[in-house]
Amino acid sequence: AVGDAATPRSFPMARRCPYAPPPEYAELRARGPLVRVQVPSGAVIWVVTRHAEAQQVLTDPRISTDTSRPDFPVLGKREHSEYEQVMRTKLHEGSFIDMDAPEHDIYRRMLITEFTVRRINQLRPGIQQTADQLIDDMLAGGASADLVEAFGLPLPSLVICQLLGVPYADREYFQSRTRRMLASSDDPRGAYEAIMEIRDYLDDLVRRATRDPGDNLIGRLLRGPVAAGELSHNALVNMTFLLLVAGHETTANMIPLGVFTLLRNPDQLAGLRADPTGWPGAVEELLRYLSVVDWVAFDRMAIEDVEIGGQLLRAGDGVFVLGASANRDERVFANADELEVGRGARHHVAFGYGIHQCLGQNLARAELEIAYRTLFERIPDLRTDEPDEALSFKYGGGIFGMNSFPVSW
Ligand code: HEM
Repeated sequence: AVGDAATPRSFPMARRCPYAPPPEYAELRARGPLVRVQVPSGAVIWVVTRHAEAQQVLTDPRISTDTSRPDFPVLGKREHSEYEQVMRTKLHEGSFIDMDAPEHDIYRRMLITEFTVRRINQLRPGIQQTADQLIDDMLAGGASADLVEAFGLPLPSLVICQLLGVPYADREYFQSRTRRMLASSDDPRGAYEAIMEIRDYLDDLVRRATRDPGDNLIGRLLRGPVAAGELSHNALVNMTFLLLVAGHETTANMIPLGVFTLLRNPDQLAGLRADPTGWPGAVEELLRYLSVVDWVAFDRMAIEDVEIGGQLLRAGDGVFVLGASANRDERVFANADELEVGRGARHHVAFGYGIHQCLGQNLARAELEIAYRTLFERIPDLRTDEPDEALSFKYGGGIFGMNSFPVSW
């Protein structure tokens, strides 16, 4: 038996308000933990609406994330773009986000030590310095700025440069290409070209590092698994590309969105100013509340028949987890639609769950905490004069963010 009405709803659904997931999610969640929806290609897939079942799906080995499977569900015909093709072929080796165990684990294990709390704490002074420098530039430029352009985009980009050991002289090149890559909805062709340029750049960066491995992530992988014959040049290049793709847009969107959300909740912001030890908790709550990646990172397929949430999923069925819905599940989060920076929301699924749970989560937490705290400390009168309707949000599925965010002080 299926838990939904005869005609499945169309998916994906778009957000229509900066404070909430698509309004249909609450209705789907009430209907059941797994509900069938129809995607533009005509296929009918399952979406997972509740927190408990989301965790179940994301930890079940019978649910695959291997997008190179020929029958892996795609949303629409247009998904088979040049970008999709190249992701499924040239960029696939080493890109463990799209692999199942045991292959996934072999690659992930090589990077684990790079993202421990201890290692990330060593990166904190560099992140702080970068944030301060960007704020210096903003202040020097006048009494207003676009926070996306001046702070949200460059901070994570510069942190990834630092992590990978991108030389100072190359940062402008690297940043301009990543910016173009992220503008994919406006300019798909340009985004594809930028991806290929970044891929070539990283290829060259790894080649240069091979001659003289530095004290950074690439250097350590070259001296370790590459030297031992366990990791190919191509897989290493793709791994660095994965870190860039997974770590940039997500963090870049969380920065302005988090600032916007706090400015619209002045009481909670005042509490954080009075007691800065609340920032780490506020970061978790903002991750839950905003759920910027929603389903895009959680596309899956059943590879055997499996029963979850009282539903029988057949081998071959697509099953997408609605992260933004699971993170608003009233069964787990009281007043789920309210922002409560003190709630202790650490069990959200904004970083996923199971073997693919975000490898960069400690880094993302450090970046967000430093970004928000430093910005509100150094620019205490930071404000936006624009009403919500005048602001430009990325509502159309994909990763939630802001196109621009004019602020002044
Ligand atoms: C995986 C979210 C920042 C690297 C994931 C997944 C989510 C996620 C939901 C799981 C995908 C899945 O289940 O298929 C986020 C958010 C971030 C963030 C919301 C920022 C706020 C970062 C950063 C890095 C990073 C800064 C590294 C520089 C990765 C990698 C994976 C991943 C490598 C794949 C892990 C695996 O498959 O084992 N991220 N991420 N992420 N993330 Fe993040």
